[in-house]
Amino acid sequence: MATAFYQNFKLGILGGGQLGRMMIQSAIDFNIDIGVLDPDAQAPCKHLATYFQVGSLTDFDTVYQFGKNYDVVTIEIENVNTEALKQLQSEGVKVFPEPEVIALIQDKRAQKLFYQQHHIPTAPFILTEKQADLYQHLSFLPAVHKLGREGYDGRGVQKIRTEEEIKNGFDQPGLLEKLIDFDKEISVIVARNEQGETKTFPVVELVFHPEKNLVEYLFAPAQISAETENKAEAIAREVIQKLGMTGLLAVEMFVTKSGEVLVNEVAPRTHNSGHHTIEANVTSQFEQHIRAILNMPLGSTTTKVPAAMVNLLGEEGFTGLARYEGLEKALALEGVKIHLYGKKMTKPFRKMGHVTIIDQNSERLKEKVKQVKSSLKVIA
Ligand SMILES: Nc1ncnc2c1ncn2[C@@H]1O[C@H](COP(=O)(O)OP(=O)(O)OP(=O)(O)O)[C@@H](O)[C@H]1O
Ligand SMILES: [Mg+2]
Repeated sequence: MATAFYQNFKLGILGGGQLGRMMIQSAIDFNIDIGVLDPDAQAPCKHLATYFQVGSLTDFDTVYQFGKNYDVVTIEIENVNTEALKQLQSEGVKVFPEPEVIALIQDKRAQKLFYQQHHIPTAPFILTEKQADLYQHLSFLPAVHKLGREGYDGRGVQKIRTEEEIKNGFDQPGLLEKLIDFDKEISVIVARNEQGETKTFPVVELVFHPEKNLVEYLFAPAQISAETENKAEAIAREVIQKLGMTGLLAVEMFVTKSGEVLVNEVAPRTHNSGHHTIEANVTSQFEQHIRAILNMPLGSTTTKVPAAMVNLLGEEGFTGLARYEGLEKALALEGVKIHLYGKKMTKPFRKMGHVTIIDQNSERLKEKVKQVKSSLKVIA
């Protein structure tokens, strides 16, 4: 039986941002007490966690002392002290995802080598130690230079198309990856519990703005062929099984113009590309994560209704106390659901919330995305 239903069971989360906040919403239904550690005294989980502790996620002693109080420890961000987690594990605390898996994924170089060793399809790459190394690989261009560690939300990624652009490369250990002229970017969220039961969510598609090169919204289920869908789901399953990981894993992939599916990167936690599952699937990604790490049977991932998800980012030019302009107009549309993360202050591009839109008709869905995007703004 899942020990989570014994009296006094406690789950600890490293990180108290929006992902932790949505995890708590699911944990409440399982009647599970949650403790959260986050460096920010105003973190989104502050008022929702049963216990909230302010402290560094990367400091050995802080993570170790926090973790000692819990039966199971999990994460909502990868940048945590994995040595402390290994120590906790050796003392009997369950840590999911496993510390070794978090450590592997923290390093994009190790991650790529893992795909190579396990014959998981991924873009060709070369490891680099410093910026000057890039000059030795001119014939490998156009490429993408990626920082080995601590890149996040695209900050550790630079396109290097020509010799002139090498000056934008990183002067720290990284990897140079072939630029993929992809047809689509997709994501598959897969879960695995301690017994090895594995389930994938239907494929999600990242829809890019036709002119600006940025993700406009996410669409689920992806509009791709059954063949591509099967390939993507099989790859996601393979990755989590080969990692031997317990918990939830988001697998970001490219679909090339010739129909190949390549793994870009993974995140061993709940993910932005799974937010729509709260409304659109029988089980949400947050519930699935809890089921997986507490060794419960995994829930059905069946899609109930097509959905789109729009991130609510802080508008450019506004910094300060957040205000949500156009909220009522957006909410008046049928099938529009708002999620605000409880962040007091906005700044340009800060993730302040998201909007999920559900509609049985995919054309109407896309129309509503446009309406929401044009009316709803986070300003100060
Ligand atoms: N080899 C590649 N070819 C073409 N585009 C790429 C390649 N690698 C990355 N990109 C683009 O850059 C984006 C960010 O890259 P990646 O996911 O590796 O970095 P990240 O910093 O972890 O980003 P995020 O946190 O937003 O997921 C990808 O979503 C994709 O659009
Ligand atoms: Mg990414």
